[in-house]
Amino acid sequence: MAKLSSLLHLLAASVVLAISVLLGHGVLHVGASRSVHRNLQTTVESTSAMQPYRTSYHFQPPSNWMNDPNGPMIYKGIYHLFYQYNLLGPVPGHKVWAHSTSTDLVNWTPHVPAIVPSEEYDVNGCWSGSATILQEHKPAILYTGVNRQNQQVQNLAVPKNLSDPYLIEWVKSPQNPLMEPTAMNMISPDSFRDPTTAWVGPDGGWRVIIGSQSNRTGMAISYRSEDFVNWTKAEHPLYSANDTGMWECPDFFPVSAQAPVGLDTSINGPNVKHVLKVSLSDSQHDYYTIGTYNSVTDTYVPVEGSVDSNSGLRYDYGKYYASKTFFDSKNNRRILWAWINESSSADDDINKGWSGIQAIPRTLWLDKSGKQLVQWPILEIEKLRTNQVDLPNQLIEGGAILEVSGITAAQADVEVSFEVKELEKAEVLDPTWTDPQMLCSRKGASVKGSLGPFGLLVMASKGLQEYTAVFFRIFKGQNKYVVLMCSDQSRSSINNSNDKTTYGAFLDVDPLHEKLSLRTLIDHSIVESFGGGGKSCITARVYPVLAVDDGTHLHVFNNGAESVGVPKLSAWSMKKARIN
Ligand SMILES: *[C@@H]1O[C@H](CO)[C@@H](O)[C@H](O)[C@H]1NC(C)=O
Ligand SMILES: *[C@@H]1O[C@H](CO)[C@@H](O)[C@H](O)[C@H]1NC(C)=O
Ligand SMILES: *[C@@H]1O[C@H](CO)[C@@H](O)[C@H](O)[C@H]1NC(C)=O
Ligand SMILES: *[C@@H]1O[C@H](CO)[C@@H](O)[C@H](O)[C@H]1NC(C)=O
Ligand SMILES: *[C@@H]1O[C@H](CO)[C@@H](O)[C@H](O)[C@H]1NC(C)=O
Ligand SMILES: *[C@@H]1O[C@H](CO)[C@@H](O)[C@H](O)[C@H]1NC(C)=O
Repeated sequence: MAKLSSLLHLLAASVVLAISVLLGHGVLHVGASRSVHRNLQTTVESTSAMQPYRTSYHFQPPSNWMNDPNGPMIYKGIYHLFYQYNLLGPVPGHKVWAHSTSTDLVNWTPHVPAIVPSEEYDVNGCWSGSATILQEHKPAILYTGVNRQNQQVQNLAVPKNLSDPYLIEWVKSPQNPLMEPTAMNMISPDSFRDPTTAWVGPDGGWRVIIGSQSNRTGMAISYRSEDFVNWTKAEHPLYSANDTGMWECPDFFPVSAQAPVGLDTSINGPNVKHVLKVSLSDSQHDYYTIGTYNSVTDTYVPVEGSVDSNSGLRYDYGKYYASKTFFDSKNNRRILWAWINESSSADDDINKGWSGIQAIPRTLWLDKSGKQLVQWPILEIEKLRTNQVDLPNQLIEGGAILEVSGITAAQADVEVSFEVKELEKAEVLDPTWTDPQMLCSRKGASVKGSLGPFGLLVMASKGLQEYTAVFFRIFKGQNKYVVLMCSDQSRSSINNSNDKTTYGAFLDVDPLHEKLSLRTLIDHSIVESFGGGGKSCITARVYPVLAVDDGTHLHVFNNGAESVGVPKLSAWSMKKARIN
């Protein structure tokens, strides 16, 4: 029990529950460090000592800078992902569309870049854009080119050989650029980018939106076309909002109000709602609203209560930007990709030779409430699970911390649910506590509460000098219980030179009638957490010095005064995916 003393900074009254868990492989002593690593060596393919932060099952190229996902689609049963990539180094620079394909969204094969600067209209960069599947299943890409005058214009590229399911070669349209800023249309040449997937209106014509701003009014400019080549700007934007700044990477798509399935981008009708997502350049966060789309007038009206500014709904309350969805027609689902930035310095990126990863693709759909979206990691990622460890149903006393042994804790998937009995003991929520991120930073994992903090300590070093805490707290609000979900990075590394911002979100779950569930995907330098079955998501980057590879541990903890039930905890080691 000697190591307990080092835990005391975290938990006022630490009690390691010295119980044993029966595993498939035999009995491991939970909380005892000796027996922990027995099964680990064979499953973790050790990351190079020089590269402790490279991931094992997240999408990343072998080296250099990557940012936005571009043009995701499925064609002839093959998934395509293009991405913004600098061929020359791990820093932003001249962008090409790098390209990889997959049959399962888990393992990826790289190809030569699909679109590279070559013409007057894109010589200074081939920036983000989207794929649209035209009639007869022909894909087409609209992308932003930065022209010789550094103006942003929209261009078309089509596959050279439609019989090639990998779509290796792309041909730029001789009519490019198809949309450009002019004195007539008043579009600002440095604020006109990132065309969406186009959709078909009731008149059979195509529509697309482009991100823009005018005097800090962010907007989604609409264009129409009969033939996908000759595009005419609509008189009014699809939607705009004052004082939101530049809208990057807009995404506009229908969701079913009846079932948790995906819809083709051109679908509209009585049981359909629409989602407009914008990446706000000011705050570097992805916000969305849910509303209705009138395809005759080409206007979008968010439902009352949806806010499209810094206080609105977010896909993810941590690090998550420039996201883009596509409709997977093979499996009737809509899938979300997003770029996850580093939290370390450009010098570090240069030293490690790379920057940027993609989040695990998520399926998303409209919640039963109709008020928000729900996201969940694609099912395919579960085929990387191995070495399942289950904890028996148990109560975790206030102040207790319990190690979950027997998995590769730096490369893992964890699902846990919590059950709280005496809700009346919840702390009262001060009505001024409206900012969940602020609340999480003020009440981090080490701040004892009543009902919570309880959750997971991931990427933890042996003596808990380092850990990332993903947890819940329950408060008594005006007329309901309020659940707070936090990802606290403040102790994620003994190295203080990186960004360790704490993130937080409110979670729309009723703890009176529902268990509080948490799933966390851990992959060396990324912690992606899904609360309440995917109602609130938080992604964090971490750069531990001690909690690296086999020096990494996983715990479940309760630092509240009241006990919490843990009816279920399953954790898996994750195998390495074949990526690029
Ligand atoms: C087109 O792709 C198919 C399938 O990969 C290949 O067999 C064919 O040779 C290609 N055609 C040309 C002109 O490259
Ligand atoms: C932007 O604001 C400036 C100053 O208020 C004004 O002169 C200009 O006309 C505005 N531009 C547009 C496109 O509204
Ligand atoms: C492009 O479309 C507009 C609007 O439909 C039409 O007026 C114009 O003639 C078209 N231009 C070409 C070159 O087809
Ligand atoms: C947006 O700004 C314009 C011009 O400043 C103003 O007329 C309009 O009322 C504002 N709209 C909203 C919704 O605040
Ligand atoms: C990238 O990370 C830096 C450092 O944490 C942060 O300041 C910036 O806002 C991030 N950008 C995005 C797009 O996440
Ligand atoms: C701490 O971070 C700095 C800057 O990110 C880096 O140069 C240094 O090597 C790191 N130290 C350790 C012990 O990892």
